[in-house]
Amino acid sequence: MDNTRENNKQKAALLLKKMTLTEKVGQLSQRTIGDTSHLGKDATLNTEVFKDIAEGRVGFALQPAYDMSNDMLQAQEAAVNKSRLKIPLMINTDILHGFITIFPIPLALACSFDTVLIQKAAAFSAYEASQCGIYCTHAPMLDLARDPRWGRVSESFGEDPFLGSEIASAYVMGYQNNEADNSISATAKHFAGYGAAEGGRDYDSSHVGEIEMKNYYLIPFKRAVEDGVNMIMCGFNTLDGMPLTCNKKYLTEILKKEFGFEGPVISDWCAIYELAAHGVAENPKDAAFKAFTAGTDIEMASTCYNDNLEIIVKEGKISENQIDEAVLRVLELKYKTGLMDNPFNHFKKEKLNSLTEEGEEIAEKAAEESAVLLKNDGILPLRGKCLLLGKKIESKDVLGCWQLSSEADKAYSIKKGFENEKLDFDYASEIQTARELARNNNYKSVIVNIGESSGESGEAASKQNLNLNKDNLDLIISAKKLELPLIILVSAGRPLILTNIIEQCDALLYIWFLGHRTGTAVARILSGKINPSGKLPMTFPQNEGQIPIYYNRLPTGRPLSGENDPDKFKCRYIDGSGKPLFPFGYGLSYSKFKYNQIFLSNEIMNGEKITVFATVANESYWDGIETVQLYIRDRFAEISRPVKELKGFKRIFLKSGQSEIVDFDITDKMLAYYHSDGTFKADNGTFEIFIGSDSSVTESVKFKRIK
Ligand code: BGC
Repeated sequence: MDNTRENNKQKAALLLKKMTLTEKVGQLSQRTIGDTSHLGKDATLNTEVFKDIAEGRVGFALQPAYDMSNDMLQAQEAAVNKSRLKIPLMINTDILHGFITIFPIPLALACSFDTVLIQKAAAFSAYEASQCGIYCTHAPMLDLARDPRWGRVSESFGEDPFLGSEIASAYVMGYQNNEADNSISATAKHFAGYGAAEGGRDYDSSHVGEIEMKNYYLIPFKRAVEDGVNMIMCGFNTLDGMPLTCNKKYLTEILKKEFGFEGPVISDWCAIYELAAHGVAENPKDAAFKAFTAGTDIEMASTCYNDNLEIIVKEGKISENQIDEAVLRVLELKYKTGLMDNPFNHFKKEKLNSLTEEGEEIAEKAAEESAVLLKNDGILPLRGKCLLLGKKIESKDVLGCWQLSSEADKAYSIKKGFENEKLDFDYASEIQTARELARNNNYKSVIVNIGESSGESGEAASKQNLNLNKDNLDLIISAKKLELPLIILVSAGRPLILTNIIEQCDALLYIWFLGHRTGTAVARILSGKINPSGKLPMTFPQNEGQIPIYYNRLPTGRPLSGENDPDKFKCRYIDGSGKPLFPFGYGLSYSKFKYNQIFLSNEIMNGEKITVFATVANESYWDGIETVQLYIRDRFAEISRPVKELKGFKRIFLKSGQSEIVDFDITDKMLAYYHSDGTFKADNGTFEIFIGSDSSVTESVKFKRIK
């Protein structure tokens, strides 16, 4: 099959010639199939859908729950057998971290810094979904997340644009897998600045300047476009007062023209209809006009386009050519993905509906790499029998947000993981039983699992209090009374405030929501079968008052010389420290890695790349994996540049006693940024390079770029 862009363009243009205006507008509509009342969303939107499909008035279908392949098959049959031009539907759903097999939530996966594994997990999700009638996922979510109050940080890859774009790339490649038969389209969302919602309140406004947008928030999207992402979804938010859904500057000028995105842009759920609530559209017709002319090609869920675009064209306010441009984006995508030639190839006779060994293996490895060890006073790995305490230990609520799997019941609780790994333990759900057990057993430690439930993060789950709740604190108090070393496991979809509990425990493992294999991964890490290697993709604040807090902040004219700087007139709080509890990139291992002095191939960069080297040694008994992080600071630039920016990382495996020289090439592209006139280029002058185990690294070397 000739799948070149030219060929797809030609075929799309030929088909377009046969289409009526109604059919063209139909291709710009995504409708929900099935009852969505369980999502609290308006089920009445569905009543006319099948009729509309047969009339060629629907281009995309949204599957809102896990297995609706029969309904989807009927919908596809209606499109292919009943509509005049037989244009197949593209069927979308939200697969953020697994379809049947659930992997760690995206924020946890990001802790692995393992883009190879992440790509594999995404490819596996695509494989599962492509057996069940799905052609496209509304993922990855590429919103930069600096505010843990925002519930959707769990769907993000954290606060860093470079890490975010590396993972964006892995996700896009994994899902789309060169358009192979068992691949699905990816939709990078939510373009853009949605993660900067004021106060961390979901759906609230963002206020980010264009240069900051381009240097931070847009970087992962730009990367996804470069890697050929098939669709982009715009955000619910307003940016500088203009909702993204009708934001011409961002959708048309920046995304389509400047970044060269050639696929269709889809709105978020009913977001076109909601333009009236934003106060920028008088009615659905006005909303359709504003969203369409700004660059939103497809409408999700609501029907402002279907009901109004034809009329608007007839009134001469939008030309048919403008409609054609949007429709061509859709048709080209349908040709590119093979949907036009084979509209039923994702409906397999032998439907997948259970976990497989292959999926579980990836899920297990991903879970093992995604947990982050935040404290260890030497109690881990476990030696001898332990006591597991509290009901959460046997809870299967370990999958996190956006999981539609049919197999939620097969998730491994912590207890199941301990059993599976045949560890020496007792379990008590209540403290009374624990006390009795402790009297008669020589436990080496007590382990509790605290934190959030899955529903406490994700969409529409913003919080103003990130401290642990009373039940959690009571459990810790009870556990402390057993007078055993205390190991805390924290489940959460965001960074929580751990300041008060970190002192009280001997070890703390942050386990997010690690997916189906949570229990086994935790048991293996605690027992030492797996040496933890996860690193934080988001800064952990000491308290909510520090939010937003992120490592790649801009310097001020009044930097602190240190925590004890006596000068009041500095950028600081008078009632507490500005330091995070744990910095970006932080995470312990059972191994002890030592970084020796870093050196450069050349202290002058003159047109060529230079190379920086660091020796990393494993000075411990444990073999382990270390994520070596490269940070750069531009000391003198046109605009103020961050105190440090991640520009590279390498995961290395070092055996006990082994050392390795790790090298990174420094290129102009790594030094470049968007200047105030919009140009993307590197400055001449001094740059500082840091290589270390997290973003708090202070030792650096400098070089000069001249050209
Ligand atoms: C979310 C999107 C999602 C869509 C469809 C919206 O509420 O913001 O991320 O893709 O629903 O389920």
